[in-house]
Amino acid sequence: MSAPNKQYDPVEVASLSPGEITRMRDEALAAVAAAGTLDELKAARLAHAGDRSPLRLANAEIGALPPGARAEAGKRIGTTMRAVSQALAARQQVLEEERDQRVLIEEAVDVTLPWDHRPPGARHPVTTVGERLADVFVSMGYEIAEGPEIEAEWYNFDALNIPPDHPAREMQDTLFVAGPDGGRSGMVLRTHTSPVQIRAMLTRPLPLYVVSPGRCYRNEAQDATHSPVFHQIECLAVDEGLTMADLRGAVQAFVDAMFGEGLRTRLRPDYFPFTEPSADVSMECHVCRGASTRPGGPACRVCRSQGWIELAGCGMVNPRVLIACGIDPDRYSGFAFGLGIERALMVRHGVTDIRDTLEGDVRFSRAFGVEA
Ligand code: PHE
Repeated sequence: MSAPNKQYDPVEVASLSPGEITRMRDEALAAVAAAGTLDELKAARLAHAGDRSPLRLANAEIGALPPGARAEAGKRIGTTMRAVSQALAARQQVLEEERDQRVLIEEAVDVTLPWDHRPPGARHPVTTVGERLADVFVSMGYEIAEGPEIEAEWYNFDALNIPPDHPAREMQDTLFVAGPDGGRSGMVLRTHTSPVQIRAMLTRPLPLYVVSPGRCYRNEAQDATHSPVFHQIECLAVDEGLTMADLRGAVQAFVDAMFGEGLRTRLRPDYFPFTEPSADVSMECHVCRGASTRPGGPACRVCRSQGWIELAGCGMVNPRVLIACGIDPDRYSGFAFGLGIERALMVRHGVTDIRDTLEGDVRFSRAFGVEA
């Protein structure tokens, strides 16, 4: 910047000449018009309207003019600078609108496209309930025992004191595995988890405490309460001096774990070839707690107003079964109980159709929570 002059010096303030200012304006307007993007416009603004732009620098020279010439030069520069900044603002608006249009097109989301999100699955409640029950027994010192689902008839029946002509074989609606010639192969789809007892007694050292959850099969038509495929969980203890009192305790621990503490259990005589004596286990109805059986009491759908719900079969291991497994029945005694997991689940959660537990619909499973 030049110091204020006493005399008008046309050379030093050439930048303020009308021709020069017009040239600066034309240059600025051309740059604004040529800016094709907001970034280019920003550069044009800096070059032609910024602090170091020719117009601003010329403006700073006004003080160097003789006082009489300043007003006119100032007006000329001011008009020019306003024109440039108006051109900048107008171009800015055009370019922003263009950008917004482009963004709308480029970033459009087609809401009709298929969803690529995969909802997490849920473990099946039959699995999680089976595992939880097994865990309860593991915490009491039991071991988990497993066996094959295609089982030798000997394990599924003979060793359990169910001879070939015994009606129990028909009672359990067995699915027999055909041999190569189409006849019997000696193998069946296991009808219960009790053959795992035999495998455990034959292979494990005594005393023996095992729990066996697993899938079972029966030749039954599927309806609301029956299914050809279902799950049982079975508990077996063989030790010296075990009595039915121990059986009762184990049954009670099971019911406490599955339904919460405080529900009474009841054993009533029953018959199973592999236990003697045998009993069925009922528990006090966890919904009405017996209220439905009192005169004038409310009806209960869960126990059909019986006050009790039948849950399991149980008994003291038949000495014949112990002998079949090479165990001395004079020294050892055992107890066992077994029940259907689906049935326990249905009772506990008020599921009225066993098919809901079988169809694998995640909407059913998810209601039980997504357990790891
Ligand atoms: N296995 C028997 C059944 O499927 C249940 C049971 C198990 C009964 C153990 C007594 C002892 O019917």
